Amino acid sequence: MKLIVKALFAAFLGTGLVACSGSDGRQSSSQQPADEPGGSNNAACGDFAWCDSSLSAAQRTALLLNELTLDEKLQLMAGDDPASAAAGEPAVGVANGIKRVGLDTVFYSDGPVGVRQGASVTTAHPAPMALGASFSRQLARQTGAAVADEVKHYGNDVVHAPTVDVVRVLVHGRVFETYGEDPFLAAKLAVPWIQGAQAQGVIANVKHYAMNNQEGQVGVPPFSGLLDDLPLVGGIDVPPLTGLIGGRFLVSANVEERTLREIYLPPFEAAVIAGNVGAVMCAYNYVNGDPACSSKHLLQEILRDEWGFDGYVLTDYYFAQKDTVKSANNGNDLEMPFGLHYTPALLNAALLSGQVVESIIDQRVGNQLRTLVKFGVMDRDNYPEDPENIDFAVHHAIARATAERGTVLLRNNGLLPLDVGSLSSIAIIGESANRYVNGGGSSAVNPANLVTPRTAINERAGAAATVRYNDGSNANNAARLAAASDVALVFVTDNASEGQDRLCLSLSCPLDFGQDQDDLIRAVSAANPDTVVILQTGSAVLTPWRNQIAGLLEAWYPGEAGGPAIAGILFGDVNPSGKLPITFPVSENDTPYANDPRQYPGVPVSAAGGSVFQTEYSEGVLVGYRWYDQQGIEPAYAFGFGLSYTTYAYSDLRVSGNTVTATVTNTGTRAGTEIAQLYLALPAPAVDVIQPPWKLKGFQRTRLTPGQSADVVFNLNKRAFSFWDINANDWRVAPGCYRIAVGRHSRDLPLQRNVSRAGGDC
Ligand code: BGC
Repeated sequence: MKLIVKALFAAFLGTGLVACSGSDGRQSSSQQPADEPGGSNNAACGDFAWCDSSLSAAQRTALLLNELTLDEKLQLMAGDDPASAAAGEPAVGVANGIKRVGLDTVFYSDGPVGVRQGASVTTAHPAPMALGASFSRQLARQTGAAVADEVKHYGNDVVHAPTVDVVRVLVHGRVFETYGEDPFLAAKLAVPWIQGAQAQGVIANVKHYAMNNQEGQVGVPPFSGLLDDLPLVGGIDVPPLTGLIGGRFLVSANVEERTLREIYLPPFEAAVIAGNVGAVMCAYNYVNGDPACSSKHLLQEILRDEWGFDGYVLTDYYFAQKDTVKSANNGNDLEMPFGLHYTPALLNAALLSGQVVESIIDQRVGNQLRTLVKFGVMDRDNYPEDPENIDFAVHHAIARATAERGTVLLRNNGLLPLDVGSLSSIAIIGESANRYVNGGGSSAVNPANLVTPRTAINERAGAAATVRYNDGSNANNAARLAAASDVALVFVTDNASEGQDRLCLSLSCPLDFGQDQDDLIRAVSAANPDTVVILQTGSAVLTPWRNQIAGLLEAWYPGEAGGPAIAGILFGDVNPSGKLPITFPVSENDTPYANDPRQYPGVPVSAAGGSVFQTEYSEGVLVGYRWYDQQGIEPAYAFGFGLSYTTYAYSDLRVSGNTVTATVTNTGTRAGTEIAQLYLALPAPAVDVIQPPWKLKGFQRTRLTPGQSADVVFNLNKRAFSFWDINANDWRVAPGCYRIAVGRHSRDLPLQRNVSRAGGDC
């Protein structure tokens, strides 16, 4: 059966549709447009009026549009190489240019973890969750730049990243690709990532607009497992068709406007306004019944009219666009990776019937062309494919820094850091210590320079200790090895991918691994209390054994340099500083969407409409820690939580206007970096405008030597104090008393002060 499904999908990708591919492949830097006239004022573009770089991008676009025939414009509205998208070769999507006007083919690439380029090796960065846990704008910028540099040296122009969907459902198969459950944090990291990438001359394509918050559940056997990790064509290892219940292509995310504005849109808004992102990828799902890729509200009213987006919108691949007319009229510029709805025939029919007018076509094509002009794509030749010019060592170092700063120490009874001098034997348990651990789907990359935890720990322990390895497949054997060792390091992982959500949050999910990893941890820690568990997971997992172990690290999918980063933290060469960008609940039942299938995974839609399932976002703004705080539910590990090998004291809160200052002191014996966090409690302007107890509104990393103090300064803007007023259809500051809190994490806020705003009283 698997084979049949695979064959059908491959056939879908490969037959007929490939025939419409007109890709001319990459051009080398010496190639020129075939009919380029001589004496050009712009060697790559040509001697055409629209190539005059002294004109504005808008002027050049108008000239070019005037030159293009209608047929040519229609061709530009869809990609041209469906097979390449799945294979990642020659790129993750190709859109042919129009040579006679000096417009080259545009090459697209994934993605948030690193470049997906067929079988080629690229730097495997830690999953963006690690970047989220690092709370580091600087690393976000460096990572964006490093990824874009490789994107470019593999000959691509656009990168489908970053992913800024806010985590709503912890089992979502793509949590690992995001920056976590807080919109403020996601926005603050997305912007420097985009800026770093675009400074390399690559267009960032922020995704998935909006609310691609679930892939869907596979369902009950015999379906579950049937399509699991189905190897498809080339680099993508899970087909996009697996989420049968509440699946991403079929589900409508039903959300009220305030929640949309306060939770799900801020990272996109920041990407557009502060990041000046060049492209936006519209999502597979529907939003309030409208396909995201033809939603007038999302694409026109918010993205263009309110935020002033000047780039172009392109669809997620194959199934995001659901029609021709609405998509064209409401603002979807480019269908990828090929035209199913934006075919010349369908577009011509829409024009003939008057449902779409030619000025709309000009807008769609104009948005794309203007962006290509603005980002210099028109004025250069295609980037040559020259990966030999990539400085993989520098990128590896960035990946390592992210893994080090993004790893979160969740528990330590004092065993960590390991003292190599006093250990004679170390047991490494779990097969995930011995391989590259990553998420599946379009973010899967082939690491250029992998160092596994097993290798790195062996190296670090050197001759001082005997390091023995057991793959953990037999818990009894693993426990025997643990009992015979001074310390046991147990590596466990989850199995997350685009295309389907995890079946449950635990490490003993049936069908997830074929192995009960909770049982493994229990057996090993019973045999040796000096057990440290290292999670390499894409999202939160349940940790029912957490009080029975000596130490717990969350390393996420740590990328190609995860091994040395984990070893560095275990042995104390690196003082852990990461903090959780998502809440770890005690039980799956504690999650905001638990126990009601209408919230997740969704229920079938009975009324006629495009979507087949609908998911009610009835928890509203109470997403992530906002929910646990408001409900008074104790999490296993709170948002923003993370330990260190030193300790920090907070003192001296000062508030002056919108500037908040606090002093942080390293009260321990090691140098370390603390991530100080500022949360705000807003007054509820009306009974039906529920405000969560706390919202993250600031964070600062500060490096401190033992005994050292430093001020952390947070600048709050008007938006920090605002709520989305559905009556005014705008942001508004409610008159009242606001509580400012600064501290170590969302549940440990020792410094607090009330301030009044908008004429309110405290
Ligand atoms: C994913 C996108 C990705 C695209 C191209 C889709 O399945 O949802 O995130 O950029 O494939 O690989």
